Amino acid sequence: MKETSLFDSLLEEPQKPSGPVTCLGMTFENDEARRAHFTEELRKKLQDPVFRKIEGFPIGSDEDILNLSDPPYYTACPNPWIADFIAEWEAQKPEQPEGYHYHREPFAADVSEGKNDPIYNAHSYHTKVPHKAIMRYILHYTQPGDIVLDGFCGTGMTGVAAKMCGDREVVMSLGYQVKPDGTILQEENDDEGKKVWRPFSKIGVRKAILNDLSPAATFIAYNYNTPVDEVAFEKEAKRILKEVENECGWMYETLHIDGKTKGKINYTVWSDVIICSHCGTEIVYWDAAINKQKAEVKEKFNCPTCSSEITKRNVEKAYESWYDNSISQVVRMVKQVPVLINYSIGKKRHEKRPSDLDLEVVSKIGKEPYLYKFPTTKIEDGAKTREPLAFGASYTHLMYSMRNLKILIAILDRINKVNDGRLQNYLKVWFTSSQTRLHRMNRYAAQHQRHVGPLANTLYISSTPAEISPFYFLNLKIKENLLALGSVSSSAIQTGDASKVLIPENSLDYAFIDPPFGHNIMYSDLNIIWEAWLGAKTNSEPEAIENKHQGKGLDEYRVLMVSAFKNAYKALKPGRWLTVEFSNTKASVWNSIQTALTDAGFVVANVAALNKGRGGLHAIIGPTAVKQDLIISAYKPNGGFEERFQKEAQTEEGVWDFVRTHLKYLPVTKQQGALLQFVPERDPRILFDQMVAYYVRKGYPVPISSQEFQIGLAQRFIERDGMYFLPDQVAEYDRKKMTSGELKQMSMFVSDEASAIQWLRQLIKEKPQTFSDINPQFMQQLGGWSKNEAQLDLRELLNQNFLCYDGKGPVPEQIHAYLSTNWKELRNLPKDDPTLVAKARDRWYVPDPNKAGDLEKLREKALLKEFEEYKEVKKKLKVFRLEAVRAGFKKAWQERDYAVIVAVADKIPNNVLEEDPKLLMWYDQAVTRMGGE
Ligand SMILES: C[S@@+](CC[C@H](N)C(=O)[O-])C[C@H]1O[C@@H](n2cnc3c(N)ncnc32)[C@H](O)[C@@H]1O
Repeated sequence: MKETSLFDSLLEEPQKPSGPVTCLGMTFENDEARRAHFTEELRKKLQDPVFRKIEGFPIGSDEDILNLSDPPYYTACPNPWIADFIAEWEAQKPEQPEGYHYHREPFAADVSEGKNDPIYNAHSYHTKVPHKAIMRYILHYTQPGDIVLDGFCGTGMTGVAAKMCGDREVVMSLGYQVKPDGTILQEENDDEGKKVWRPFSKIGVRKAILNDLSPAATFIAYNYNTPVDEVAFEKEAKRILKEVENECGWMYETLHIDGKTKGKINYTVWSDVIICSHCGTEIVYWDAAINKQKAEVKEKFNCPTCSSEITKRNVEKAYESWYDNSISQVVRMVKQVPVLINYSIGKKRHEKRPSDLDLEVVSKIGKEPYLYKFPTTKIEDGAKTREPLAFGASYTHLMYSMRNLKILIAILDRINKVNDGRLQNYLKVWFTSSQTRLHRMNRYAAQHQRHVGPLANTLYISSTPAEISPFYFLNLKIKENLLALGSVSSSAIQTGDASKVLIPENSLDYAFIDPPFGHNIMYSDLNIIWEAWLGAKTNSEPEAIENKHQGKGLDEYRVLMVSAFKNAYKALKPGRWLTVEFSNTKASVWNSIQTALTDAGFVVANVAALNKGRGGLHAIIGPTAVKQDLIISAYKPNGGFEERFQKEAQTEEGVWDFVRTHLKYLPVTKQQGALLQFVPERDPRILFDQMVAYYVRKGYPVPISSQEFQIGLAQRFIERDGMYFLPDQVAEYDRKKMTSGELKQMSMFVSDEASAIQWLRQLIKEKPQTFSDINPQFMQQLGGWSKNEAQLDLRELLNQNFLCYDGKGPVPEQIHAYLSTNWKELRNLPKDDPTLVAKARDRWYVPDPNKAGDLEKLREKALLKEFEEYKEVKKKLKVFRLEAVRAGFKKAWQERDYAVIVAVADKIPNNVLEEDPKLLMWYDQAVTRMGGE
């Protein structure tokens, strides 16, 4: 490895087009020569039918793909140079001190921080994650020069974040301190609870591999991750606007109400024309339903001709038809007419009803021929396209008013004639960044008396669109696109399916992804307009979403996510982390993501729910109705564990090796304010589940029972407050506990048998109680009981999981400890003292691991008996014990009786299966195995 200083990558020579440049070990006369060389290489590659057949290859001609691409840094298709970049970047990494060992704990931070940043706002996209939020993750997990992957990169904010880790000022703006040698310090509590600044990372650019299925997304990502000559951009953009304004400016002129002064139109509000269902006359919706002065929109209004009452909801719209030369077809669209013009004279704004002259201008624009060629992409039937299709916009250019379309194609024509390829691309991104406000989806909200942009995540065209002047808006967007993009490229970007990015095995240092979440957002539908302008379209076949039109349900979504995660797993070095940002409120989608991660080989170390309101993080486990953003931290096991596991898998030693390795990756403490929090991942039951999941996914039988696991765990690891630690971790835990004092218990919801047991355990662990004490508290918890779960009697729950002291023999330690610390008169009494015995009698308590083992055996028997019944019943199961199904699946798995798993799974409601990660795991594996046998 070459020795480089931390700042080397920042100080590299700016690669201006005029001077010689080096790229992937080759030197070129200038950047245009570099581009020309690699474009030719890509052209050859595009001839290769195997290359073009890669899944997710965008839809577009060779020329369209070559036009957008800037190889080798960016390709609007799979990028053949990714491996070359990785090799080069790896060789450039600063050398690590001898004996360096990578170790990080899982990390979670707010993912919405930094939404006011110019680069975040330059180009809109669906659910963007600001680069400043991602920087915290990259700084935590990586070193300067490390390589980061984002397989679902959208607008490429991960790439921007990776680069900005080399910018001292930006790093400091996140609230960190930076020492002159580049060491970054963050504020933490020391052992006494005092605030101290601790070093945790170093300043220095990180490299990024970015991929997205959508060419629009990667084109945006490329533009904001690649240096550009800002001065030239500003000059060219202004020149183009000026030229087009000279040509088409008349379209946006209007006469002031004085009848002589010329004004410039800022925007025109249009309105649907509707038909009165009673008298059949055409009514301008705006006139009948909107009171502009009062900022009022009426739900019900009267027909001006026949006075009948009309309700907006069931009104019929008027349509008009005309012949569109560009597609040689008759077009039939909702009839809309201009109703309000907002214009400026000098700096002063005015409003007026369009005059006959204004209407003449509109009509003239409609009649004039198109002067430029432009793309006409058909809008196919899809999940989000119903609205524009019902409007009559069956091609993307019809999403624009004729006036804006004619101006925009005049601008695009000039952009396409710019010779400098890099500049041309940046002008195109300026062009696409302006579209959201220039098409018919831009709305005028009469209630707010202003235009409010499109309705998020839809292609909805409102009854009162606002047609904004492209001259005004594109001018504003010039400013917003004047960004300091630096002078070096630090990412390699490609377009395709996340599961097909060609990355050498074990080569990357970290992955941050923000994938689609179930059916939340239909990216390929929403990107059609941008992609129409750019000439290449998303190939939606491998799009990882739930979408009926694409024939994809939750299962298909999960399978696609598994392949993507598998690719990331393969690419990451062992011991490295993957962060998944997740925002969906459906438990089934959440479980699909979790299952997909583990299916791919990752071990989930932590799930944090981001509570933005309170700014805190709190841990969650198991199936849940997710209300906030979640951050999942998963790792690829290392330390030779995988290889050892191959040999040890059949033995108990494999189990303990797994636990030992896993404990290393778990956070030692979690804090909320000054209080220590329970770390659920260290709970023995969760550890057992994790271990089982690992074995099952690797296809091995689990060598020990849960009882043996609990006993073995207590013998080998150290327990504190119901959590398990490695010896060196426990010292840290004890120190922190000393300063924070107490441990904050998790808040729990009782919804089924498993959570009821957990709730009871928490209740009587520290304070053993009698049935009559427990019962009223338990009753209060039952409100949220799940409808498919059989209700269990409290007595049965207690009997099957806990012990009750019947007054015979010495008082158990658990009760003794509680009584003697809380009652003065019971202190220091022997365990068979009659007063103590009397006070302890009939109290329920949590058994120690040995006794717990006996109890669990009995309980398992009862559960399996119940499962036998489920096997036999012919009809669907509506109400049952989930715990019995889990126990039954586990046993069937051990016995390789996969058919039983599948048969019972088919009897239980789909949502129960999809929302339970354990059931889903057994079921998935059983289906896979049955298929293979
Ligand atoms: C939540 S967005 C990412 C947004 C991104 N974080 C940003 O800041 O712009 C998810 C992305 O996944 C992409 N996508 C969907 N299926 C994909 C697949 N199979 N491979 C790669 N990308 C995919 C979509 O095109 C979309 O851009």
